[in-house]
Amino acid sequence: MVAAALISAAALAGVALASPINIARELNQNYKTDITIHESCNATQRRILEKALSDTFEVATVAQEYVVKNGAEDPVFQKYFGKEKEAYSTVVGVWESLLTSNKDGVIFRCDNPDGNCGQAGWRGHWRGDNATLETVICDLSYTDRYFNEYFCMNGYTVAGSPLGTHWSIDLIHRMFHVPTITNELVGHYSEDYASALELAEHNATYSPIDSDALQAFAAHIYAVEVAQGGDACIGQSVESHDHASSATPSATSSQDPSATSAAAEACHTHADGAVHCESDDAESASLTATAAAAQTSAAGDCHTHADGTVHCV
Ligand SMILES: *[C@@H]1O[C@H](CO)[C@@H](O)[C@H](O)[C@H]1NC(C)=O
Ligand SMILES: *[C@@H]1O[C@H](CO)[C@@H](O)[C@H](O)[C@H]1NC(C)=O
Ligand SMILES: *[C@@H]1O[C@H](CO)[C@@H](O)[C@H](O)[C@H]1NC(C)=O
Repeated sequence: MVAAALISAAALAGVALASPINIARELNQNYKTDITIHESCNATQRRILEKALSDTFEVATVAQEYVVKNGAEDPVFQKYFGKEKEAYSTVVGVWESLLTSNKDGVIFRCDNPDGNCGQAGWRGHWRGDNATLETVICDLSYTDRYFNEYFCMNGYTVAGSPLGTHWSIDLIHRMFHVPTITNELVGHYSEDYASALELAEHNATYSPIDSDALQAFAAHIYAVEVAQGGDACIGQSVESHDHASSATPSATSSQDPSATSAAAEACHTHADGAVHCESDDAESASLTATAAAAQTSAAGDCHTHADGTVHCV
């Protein structure tokens, strides 16, 4: 008896030693849901960014609630994410991650630490390897991004206007670039509204983790459900880019901003060094990078689209 008790005590101890993972843990005390607005932002910028972030969380919350309540057979869900039922959990998880992932150390800043804001048309950028948790919001962002109340005003349509027209959708995009937000699940698998719809219709595997599909879905749901814009606010999608356009050796900085509208392009740099720009008078041209391509193609393989945007793979 005694021997058996000793043996089982030793066995328990052995189990305990072999499994140090099985101990009660405090929940992370540094957990926070809010992004930090850096001290480089002055009072005006801080007020605008606080409102923009609140808009962002509102749009993401509406999108998530819509998916949770209406499910994977909802026609709008299927329009952006396809008909594979598994898409449901992925999409719910993406919005949940954006809303509740730990934002400790995630920073929006208003200075220009990498010098990129000086380049024509840049409204902001993810700092990439220089500081993976940090996003720079350049001065130009404050001149022409709109708050949520402006959805469906002034000719805006979900299909025909740049995805980043409103602060909320732009910041959703910027948050997707911060690795800790979705643990790098979301990437760029389409390059504009039309190609995101194309992906959902014919090749939907990547749609639930496609940045543009998620942004467009969130804009669509907000436009219809909250802004009450109906069909008129969804509009018609512009044709997809013609990829036969000529190749250029370098990206962005030599672009003539007058080639596009007044506030021409918004550019940011991806982890692999590729530059990704959006034009304001055409649908946004984004980097199409499969997970594999994002890791392997370090060299800038860029070409210029008819609307002047530069597209790098
Ligand atoms: C904050 O910075 C912006 C951009 O530099 C400037 O236009 C604005 O006047 C500043 N606001 C305050 C309150 O200093
Ligand atoms: C990182 O810093 C370097 C040097 O300042 C700069 O050239 C580069 O553009 C920065 N990267 C990003 C993504 O801003
Ligand atoms: C499906 O989409 C993925 C991601 O964009 C792409 O890599 C793949 O080539 C596409 N497959 C087909 C058959 O179009």
